[in-house]
Amino acid sequence: PHVVFILADDFGWYDVGYHNSEIRTPNLDRLSAKGVRLENYYVQPLCTPSRNQLMTGRYQQIHTGMQHWIIWPCQPYCVPLDEKLLPQLMKEAGYDTHMVGKWHLGMYKKDCLPTRRGFNTYFYLLGSEDYFSHERCYRITPLNLTRCALDLRDGEEVATAYKGDYSTELFSQRAINIIQKHNSSKPLFLYVALQSVHEPLQVPEHYLTPYSFIKDQKRRLYAGMVSAMDEAVGNITLALQQGGLWDNTVLVFSTDNGGQTLSGGSNWPLRGRKWSVWEGGVRGVGFVTSPLLEKPGTVSRELIHISDWLPTLVSLAGATTNGTKPLDGFNMWNTI
Ligand SMILES: *[C@@H]1O[C@H](CO)[C@@H](O)[C@H](O)[C@H]1NC(C)=O
Ligand SMILES: *[C@@H]1O[C@H](CO)[C@@H](O)[C@H](O)[C@H]1NC(C)=O
Repeated sequence: PHVVFILADDFGWYDVGYHNSEIRTPNLDRLSAKGVRLENYYVQPLCTPSRNQLMTGRYQQIHTGMQHWIIWPCQPYCVPLDEKLLPQLMKEAGYDTHMVGKWHLGMYKKDCLPTRRGFNTYFYLLGSEDYFSHERCYRITPLNLTRCALDLRDGEEVATAYKGDYSTELFSQRAINIIQKHNSSKPLFLYVALQSVHEPLQVPEHYLTPYSFIKDQKRRLYAGMVSAMDEAVGNITLALQQGGLWDNTVLVFSTDNGGQTLSGGSNWPLRGRKWSVWEGGVRGVGFVTSPLLEKPGTVSRELIHISDWLPTLVSLAGATTNGTKPLDGFNMWNTI
């Protein structure tokens, strides 16, 4: 099947409609209602570690050395180059591999970039920049200096033509272009790691209209950002349907870690937030949806972890995990 993996950034447990949030997510609700909601699904408490485990199927603390918070913009390290990543395995299985979104697994030299690690095309880079200017600022404390730089790449080239475009719309449109250009005789692996709904809290005004009842300004802005993300997921799904790919697609939606309660997110009733190992930091919103599922409309309470996707998706692709180092994740497809 085609495999589309959509990763949200800092999306909290109580921020999806089907967890009774005041935020409306009609697309996520509808897609997951026809799929399998993963209600006992775990991720890592932070971006880089979670993304590392998704891409390697291996724990970051004891195996890949990626446990030191996140990779800050000027830090010269990346996921070790001798790790074989999910897109490489999918490519070997005959997939056309594309990535749109936040990498955050290192970029200090070209060998670390997604284009050198299994993705045929790539768009966007580090994350947490301005949603419109795409500039990321970083304070270099010892030098008492703040530097800002454009955080947008098309492949390995700096992409200067998109200033002013709201990233959620820009990235979903890029994903849609890939889907529209795709020749469906070949399986597609598309990884969309959205900037939404990480801070800064920025969103075009019209997404806020339904949320005037939310008094907390951060929560209101955040709710608008979630709506934009929900719309992006809806648009990507529609493109898969219109392109004739949907009937043979497995789509996974996941957050990378719990919500950031200091920036509008909520994990209620779970304690804690992003960057903590309380449930609110590590229990994630996630679901799988596909016309290929045996039991659509299921709520799964089986324990599933973000490191499980690599063996699960590779087996779904009919391929093997040969060439990886010993995996921590398990193939969970039968459970799903
Ligand atoms: C979704 O598609 C509609 C129609 O093309 C467009 O107006 C809207 O901006 C898109 N939303 C996002 C978040 O990309
Ligand atoms: C898609 O790929 C197949 C097999 O390579 C080829 O025969 C077909 O012409 C392609 N279709 C398009 C629209 O390019």
